[in-house]
Amino acid sequence: MDLSTTIAGIRFPSCFMNASGALCVTRDELLALGRSRAGAVVIKSMTVAPRDGNPTPRYYGFPAGSINSMGLPNLGYKAYAALIPELKAFGKPVIASVAGLCEDDFPTIAAAINAAKPDLIEVNLSCPNIPGKPQIGYDTEASERLLKRVRKVITVPMGVKLPPYFDPAHHAAMGAVIGRCGVDFLNLINSVGNGLVVDPDRETVVIKPKGGFGGLGGSIIKPVALANVRAFWKIFEGRIPIIGTGGVVNGVDAFEHLLCGASAVQIGTVLVEEGIDVFCRLETELAAQLNKKGYTGVADCRGKLREL
Ligand code: SIN
Repeated sequence: MDLSTTIAGIRFPSCFMNASGALCVTRDELLALGRSRAGAVVIKSMTVAPRDGNPTPRYYGFPAGSINSMGLPNLGYKAYAALIPELKAFGKPVIASVAGLCEDDFPTIAAAINAAKPDLIEVNLSCPNIPGKPQIGYDTEASERLLKRVRKVITVPMGVKLPPYFDPAHHAAMGAVIGRCGVDFLNLINSVGNGLVVDPDRETVVIKPKGGFGGLGGSIIKPVALANVRAFWKIFEGRIPIIGTGGVVNGVDAFEHLLCGASAVQIGTVLVEEGIDVFCRLETELAAQLNKKGYTGVADCRGKLREL
């Protein structure tokens, strides 16, 4: 079964990869991803200066998913730029994820990390976990300004990681921005921001930052992720490749993302919960599902969702 895929002209040996954030902050974690079955090494979203992130506890898993408020803990862009040659030696794509604490940070980081030649760069407009900093992806004017600035300094394929949208008007508005900014791929979606999980026994929130508010991930967000993949697939009629992220915990979940139009899928919660061997399980399960449904591979079933 052919589980390889191509995004913006870059070939990935497997359509499964980590989501930026899951086990991809330190050199050791990134090297482990390089050695694993993951189809790419996706680096944690990077800021100008190294960050410890938000106070702990800042991640909590529960049966239907997870909530996190990590606060962009990362080594800073200079450390990741230095690591990129080592990561590329694994022979699969390296995706650098650019964040920032203010708009000017983005072009600074993008230019420096672009010079280190990752295979692709993802611009993260959707971190919900920095106190006092709204998600840029919910502001179309700021998103357009920022994307046009980074586009000028990024020469590798440039993608955008967006927050979930909940109304077709918002899909259309962001779609128009994407269409004007030379975006090569989309990553849909980041965690569903500012959810709240309550422990009824302790009568408390479950994570410390932001009074317990955080980004939801895992199974609970799959329908929202699928809806966003499908909406943007339709807006661009399949012309802009999509990485589907959100709610993938088994091979059938990945199959659903592919049907909606994703070319690849990223995993967060299930990677944190199960560890790096999860890639083997997901590959086996997706291959079985594709085989059962008579598809020859990822490219074959992409976007094939039927409407009633
Ligand atoms: C975090 O570090 O808080 C998560 C990053 C993100 O959601 O973009």
